[in-house]
Amino acid sequence: MTTPICDYVTEYALSGKARLHMPGHKGVTLHGLEPFDITEIEGAGYLYSDTGIIAESEQNASILFGTGRTLYSTEGSSLSIKAMLGIAVTSLKKENERPLILACRNSHKAFLDAACLLDLDVEFIMQSTPSPSLCQCFITPNDVRSAIESSPKKPLAVYVTSPDYMGNILDIAGIKAVCKEYGLPLLVDNAHGAYLKFLKKSLHPIDQGADICCDSAHKTLPVYTGGGYLHISGNADERFFDDPKGVMSLFASTSPSYLIMQSLDICNRVLSSEFPTLLETAVSKVKQTRQEIADMGFDTLGKEPMKLTILPRGFGYTGDELAAHLRENDVECEYSDPYSLVLMPSPYTPDKDYERLLYALSLLNRKPPIEGLPLLTPKPIRRMSIREAMLGRAGMVPTGDAVGLICARTAVSCQPSIPIVTAGEEITEQAVRVMREYGVERVAVTI
Ligand SMILES: Cc1ncc(COP(=O)(O)O)c(C=O)c1O
Repeated sequence: MTTPICDYVTEYALSGKARLHMPGHKGVTLHGLEPFDITEIEGAGYLYSDTGIIAESEQNASILFGTGRTLYSTEGSSLSIKAMLGIAVTSLKKENERPLILACRNSHKAFLDAACLLDLDVEFIMQSTPSPSLCQCFITPNDVRSAIESSPKKPLAVYVTSPDYMGNILDIAGIKAVCKEYGLPLLVDNAHGAYLKFLKKSLHPIDQGADICCDSAHKTLPVYTGGGYLHISGNADERFFDDPKGVMSLFASTSPSYLIMQSLDICNRVLSSEFPTLLETAVSKVKQTRQEIADMGFDTLGKEPMKLTILPRGFGYTGDELAAHLRENDVECEYSDPYSLVLMPSPYTPDKDYERLLYALSLLNRKPPIEGLPLLTPKPIRRMSIREAMLGRAGMVPTGDAVGLICARTAVSCQPSIPIVTAGEEITEQAVRVMREYGVERVAVTI
């Protein structure tokens, strides 16, 4: 597979030309990668153009992912999510009608930011059973059907997160079938699932029927932080293809990182060669490790093949306590909270790191279980639109004083930026309890 961006930049870096253009480091090596960090000079293309070496590289990615069109993002899924919603709105919005999106409650902050910027109304689909994490919203095709049928007006689209941060994968094919019945496009936050395309049998949302999805390439593929994709299915509404780059550029920097674009470019070559085999081996390794963790007596969560989520309270530890123990033993996790701990290996994780993890876990003595599931976020009570609340005046108050007030920014459990209360919703006593549980001490309210 060709690597047009890498080829161009390498040739330029070796050319010795006078760099009388941005960036200011002029290729002088301070950090290490400066010679390859260029800007949009003649021949280097422009990220938001439909032609040139970047578009050529994106076409390679589109072939690999089997999409109608794939766009690069150098600002992660956070940018792709805004672009995805922007494309849905500019393609489908009816005149004089406020667009409404049905979205699962564990939507990432970027989705809520998009709702503010695009002035969207959002009806949330909630998980109907108690959840072991705020990050989980395990909804079924039937939940989506009920949400569509009880929606105050016809939504523009359905938006779901799959896989979620915990490693749960939704029934995308089933959800798509419901969407199709009602003539609605399915938008998927697949930030955690770029690699799903390269499993023996693809579980990638585009192959499961999603019309459009974002992938954070950097989360699961060998790509620099910030590298991502926006994929549009070949079966999507033809209006989605009108000017997707123009829409993406509305939300993006005009100085995209060439280091990240080279990383996406070279990744195409890896994906088209050794990656599927490396992945197959890694999937077996993760499966075996999950089993060994379960055999030690820990509960695990999720069916995503490359994620290891431990629920350690049954073993007598909170997720944060377990994270601290692992840290003391030179193992750094992806995420922890009072209930869970998330580990993200990849095909590039050496065997010795699995061994270190298992050894560290084996050092723990079992203690009496810590009872309780996370507090449930109560059904949201919307008092004003997301945009009105987010763009209005706001002040910070201690969380305990916020009961009855209206949330002005999205109050998130940080990380992974999943909302407890979204902007424009009333802050209830229950919401305050949940915020305290996740360490949110102050909250922005409308004034
Ligand atoms: C579910 C989900 N969606 C979107 C994002 C944003 O992705 P990025 O960091 O690539 O902008 C994240 C980040 O953690 C996430 O967990």
